[in-house]
Amino acid sequence: MNRRLAMVAVLVYSGIGLCAQPSQTVSPDLPYLRKAGSFTQLIVDGKPFLMLAGELHNSSASSTEYMAPIWRKLAAMNLNTVIGTVSWELLEPEEGKFDFRLVDDQIREARRHNMRLVLIWFATWKNANASYVPMWVKTDLKRFPRVQSKDGTNQDSLTPLGEASLAADAKAFRALMRHIREVDTQHTVIMMQVENEAGLLGDSRDRSPLAEKAWSSPVPSELMSYLQKNRDRLIPEVAQVWGAQGYRTSGTWPEVFGTTPHSDEVFMAWHIGRYIGKVAEAGKAEHPIPMYANAWLVQNEKQLPGGYPSGGPVSRVMDIWRAAAPAIDLLAPDIYLPDFKGVCASYTRSGNPLFIPEARASVPNLLWAIGQHAALGYSPFGIDSLNEDHPIGQAYQVLGGMIPILMRYQPEGRVMAVVEGEERSQTVRFGGYQMNITFGGMRRPGAATPQPTAGSAQQPAGPSGYGLIIHTGPDEFLFVGTGLNVTFAADSPGPRIARLGTVDEGRFEHGIWVPGRRFNGDETGGGNRVMLRGPGLAVQKVRLYRHD
Ligand code: DGJ
Repeated sequence: MNRRLAMVAVLVYSGIGLCAQPSQTVSPDLPYLRKAGSFTQLIVDGKPFLMLAGELHNSSASSTEYMAPIWRKLAAMNLNTVIGTVSWELLEPEEGKFDFRLVDDQIREARRHNMRLVLIWFATWKNANASYVPMWVKTDLKRFPRVQSKDGTNQDSLTPLGEASLAADAKAFRALMRHIREVDTQHTVIMMQVENEAGLLGDSRDRSPLAEKAWSSPVPSELMSYLQKNRDRLIPEVAQVWGAQGYRTSGTWPEVFGTTPHSDEVFMAWHIGRYIGKVAEAGKAEHPIPMYANAWLVQNEKQLPGGYPSGGPVSRVMDIWRAAAPAIDLLAPDIYLPDFKGVCASYTRSGNPLFIPEARASVPNLLWAIGQHAALGYSPFGIDSLNEDHPIGQAYQVLGGMIPILMRYQPEGRVMAVVEGEERSQTVRFGGYQMNITFGGMRRPGAATPQPTAGSAQQPAGPSGYGLIIHTGPDEFLFVGTGLNVTFAADSPGPRIARLGTVDEGRFEHGIWVPGRRFNGDETGGGNRVMLRGPGLAVQKVRLYRHD
């Protein structure tokens, strides 16, 4: 904690997506999570913040020289947050000897380019294996025991039951967080990812002697009482595994949860969650900023744990993680699957705030996450290899200027997303109006007139129309999008006929409206509709009126 700042007790939102708890005493300007309406917001420098982010490739931040030209590019792409990395092997190459240079370089460069940092702690788990632990850990299998397969073969993964491994990882992470507290007085680092895509691949359960012993021991009372206390609001998948054994309130793991691969997954989720929760707790003892764990997702309905990392924070075991890791504030999906909307919905269950640390660079998905789920942020993976003129950069520019607007209206449920799905049109009811939206008609750079959309060979893959609608006041809306054509009908008591009053194009700079052209005539289809044609996201301020 920054000792130079006055200590005041503030409401800190802690525990995975549950409730605001009056907890630690923290300095008032540390980043923290705050409940806002039915959502949660990330507060940075005392104000709600939206992470318009990108995650670096795994090895980029291991070389300051390699990173040198990248910072400028990321700033040019209008990122306000970079997800960088810190690896245990480089932070503590010799036990007890820490090298913080790469951390300092990332903080300095992010600050110089006016960006914030989320840092990934690559340690015990990186995509379910142990490739990032230091050599002194890799080579000492006695002190740092491995997961074992049924035939006793040691795997490339530390067992979460290894208390010495946990102590060593937590000690290193604590040293990292102490260092960040000391050097990062401006709070460039706003959040930490603890480990990366944890879990076990190749089997649903660790078969090492330590794990076998735990498996036939009683289920810890913390988990039993958590499940009993929250029985009525458990995620259905957890209720199902527990219910299949008759909701037993004590017994060994197989007695309480059965012996299916999903029973094994619950066992692994508890032990991995507990381990990562303890690592996070050690870090928070020094510098209590928000921390999350990210998930390699279940790839299809038929896939069993072990096909995806068993015990990782997939949404079906969120309750187990919540009980095991109260120091982890949220669970975050890495979304590479086509069903982006479905994954977002599954990760907002039971109040988990949505943050997407890894995804493909998709403007429609970015808007969906923000508009539909008030996501804390969105972050394409491998941002350093995207072209500088990728559309995500323009989208970040437009949204970056309107963060105060989005943050103001989000908690009141006055922001929504529209993204073309299978239908070429959608009707939404919002702010007292029925809006009929047809998609398409995007103008390409350099084109004088709208181009054909559906089925066109030149059409980019994905939706041809998408946007946000923000209800800013009675009869007033902001539209942010492209490929949208919107007509309006009255949908609340009062005069029956709805018409366009005024339509202004413009942009926001630091939350302040900067008007451009007044749209009318051809630009509103003769005063009948709002048309956002791009290229790129455009912003229009629309005022409607009603008469009989
Ligand atoms: C998911 C991992 O979390 C990342 O670190 C990276 O390895 C990507 N996959 C690669 O696509």
